[in-house]
Amino acid sequence: MSFLVELNRVTKSYKTGNSEFYALKEVSLSVLPGEMVAVIGASGSGKSTLMNIIGFLDRCTSGQYLFSQQDVSQFNEVELAHIRNQKIGFVFQSFFLLPRLTALQNVMLPLFYRETAPDRAKETALAMLEKVGMAHFAGRRPNELSGGQQQRVAIARALVGNPDIILADEPTGALDSKTGQDVMDLFLRLHQEEKRTLILITHDSRISQLCGRIILLKDGCIVL
Ligand SMILES: Nc1ncnc2c1ncn2[C@@H]1O[C@H](COP(=O)(O)OP(=O)(O)OP(=O)(O)O)[C@@H](O)[C@H]1O
Ligand SMILES: [Mg+2]
Repeated sequence: MSFLVELNRVTKSYKTGNSEFYALKEVSLSVLPGEMVAVIGASGSGKSTLMNIIGFLDRCTSGQYLFSQQDVSQFNEVELAHIRNQKIGFVFQSFFLLPRLTALQNVMLPLFYRETAPDRAKETALAMLEKVGMAHFAGRRPNELSGGQQQRVAIARALVGNPDIILADEPTGALDSKTGQDVMDLFLRLHQEEKRTLILITHDSRISQLCGRIILLKDGCIVL
């Protein structure tokens, strides 16, 4: 099987005054389709930087990034936006649902950007809400939902375009432990039953233990 994500000596640096700060230092990482990977490490160790590069939200300073064997290091912004929309599902700690839209409309949004026909988009989005146990809240706005419910809607939105990989940055960070466990159960189900590829950042060792593989970052380097 060939790798879905392949980073070769990827470095991300920032200029601070006349010195250079390295958020990632020559990181090499390969992820196979169907893997569930936890990324752990202290605050500031480079976890989000790594995730943002994998998800095309950010670019590396040097090194090579192959996604499905395609060298994306040279892609322009339009190409990156396209591959991001088609191939990546994001879940963030603070959900990032649009407050004026209902749960259903939020989940439909990625399909809207793909110019899916409205009827088809609605049907697909409802099926995703059903999958995360939120179909009966389809008409509610985010402020009418609990944190765990909002995160489940956000996961439905991440899944709706059938992405190749789901990237979750501290998806349970804003949730209490019971709600966080429910969200993790959902990720585990997606991994086990649907063979979804998942990379998730977490501070919670109980959560990382549930993943097939753990990557530990320290000062921008993978040390485990
Ligand atoms: N735009 C930027 N300019 C300069 N330094 C940055 C920038 N973005 C991130 N950094 C630095 O890069 C390092 C890694 O940041 P990153 O957000 O990846 O950490 P993290 O491991 O996700 O931390 P946390 O657990 O707190 O979310 C940090 O030291 C941060 O200050
Ligand atoms: Mg972070």
